[in-house]
Amino acid sequence: MGTTSGICAPLSFVLDGELAGGDGDRDAGPARQPECPDSPGENFAHHRPVMPAEVLSLLAPEAGGLYVDATVGLGGHAEMILSASPESRLIGIDRDQESLHLAGRRLERFGERVRLVHDDYRNIREIVGSQAGKVSGVLADLGISSYQLGARGRGFSFQRDEPLDMRMDRTSGRTAADLIAEESEKELARILFEYGEERSSRRIARGIVEGLRRAGSTGRDPIRTTGDLAHLIERIIPRRGSRIHPATRTFMALRIAVNQELEGLDRFILDSVEVLQARGRLVLLTFHSLEDRLAKTTLRTLSRRCSCPRSLPRCACGTPDLVRLLSRKALRPSREEVASNPRSRSAKLRAAERI
Ligand SMILES: C[S@@+](CC[C@H](N)C(=O)[O-])C[C@H]1O[C@@H](n2cnc3c(N)ncnc32)[C@H](O)[C@@H]1O
Repeated sequence: MGTTSGICAPLSFVLDGELAGGDGDRDAGPARQPECPDSPGENFAHHRPVMPAEVLSLLAPEAGGLYVDATVGLGGHAEMILSASPESRLIGIDRDQESLHLAGRRLERFGERVRLVHDDYRNIREIVGSQAGKVSGVLADLGISSYQLGARGRGFSFQRDEPLDMRMDRTSGRTAADLIAEESEKELARILFEYGEERSSRRIARGIVEGLRRAGSTGRDPIRTTGDLAHLIERIIPRRGSRIHPATRTFMALRIAVNQELEGLDRFILDSVEVLQARGRLVLLTFHSLEDRLAKTTLRTLSRRCSCPRSLPRCACGTPDLVRLLSRKALRPSREEVASNPRSRSAKLRAAERI
């Protein structure tokens, strides 16, 4: 991943750049991983964003506004925002260059109104730069996209045997294969238990570490591919007719760890609020209970900072509330949406308005 300096790229950069070219695997329990498409770029060009009507209604994009899509992905939500608000501008951030490339194609018709940035959304302050305080809305649709899960060579899925990578940003960081080779058995078990809610976390962690040790002593390759890992886990926890592959939760947990998906999420929420103008809105879509808990508690804290008595006309304690929550409870997708778009089934939508 690039640092923020020099990577804020206009759309043309993304289109001309050197880019080559199931999720919902979370709260509601792991789904079977979808079959991998042969040509993800084509198949996903018109993928449906999650909870589109609800996101639009909470973000309430206005003509001429400046919006940040912190997880632009394939540009589904971004396209909706730009179409709903004439002359608005949008900064689309993603740490995945291939997704950005596809978003660039999808959003090409909006020309100069779009700026795509290859970066981590946790750098939102630097990315927004001098526009801080002028942003009308920030959207973050967290986690992995169906495109990433299905694309060849990314290593997120055990549907195919390929290098065990799992990095959203393939320009930096450790791969999942590196992670399992470097972490202790105890740490692996923690990752599987916390991020994947895997009940057999200790057994799997022990099996991985023993598998690596055995491979080392026999001179065979250690666990380097999705197939190596999936088969190893199948040997540790036999399938016994379950619809869900025993490696599903391990794959989800490793993906979260490799991409450090939970680290700094609270800071990102605060920074997003701080780049908003008064009455600007922050909309968050989460797909994992830990992610949602962080979103919920951070937004709640920002909405309850002031300790002044309610009778005071304005805050005198020096820590005024920063946001007003737009709904007390998270919104969930409709039954119809879940039926037609299974990725939406564990989605939770939260939103707040800058005071
Ligand atoms: C669920 S997808 C977003 C889909 C998008 N809303 C759409 O309609 O096409 C999530 C995206 O967030 C990106 N992402 C995840 N963590 C990120 C981070 N820390 N910084 C930037 N992008 C990130 C992923 O690479 C992925 O493309």
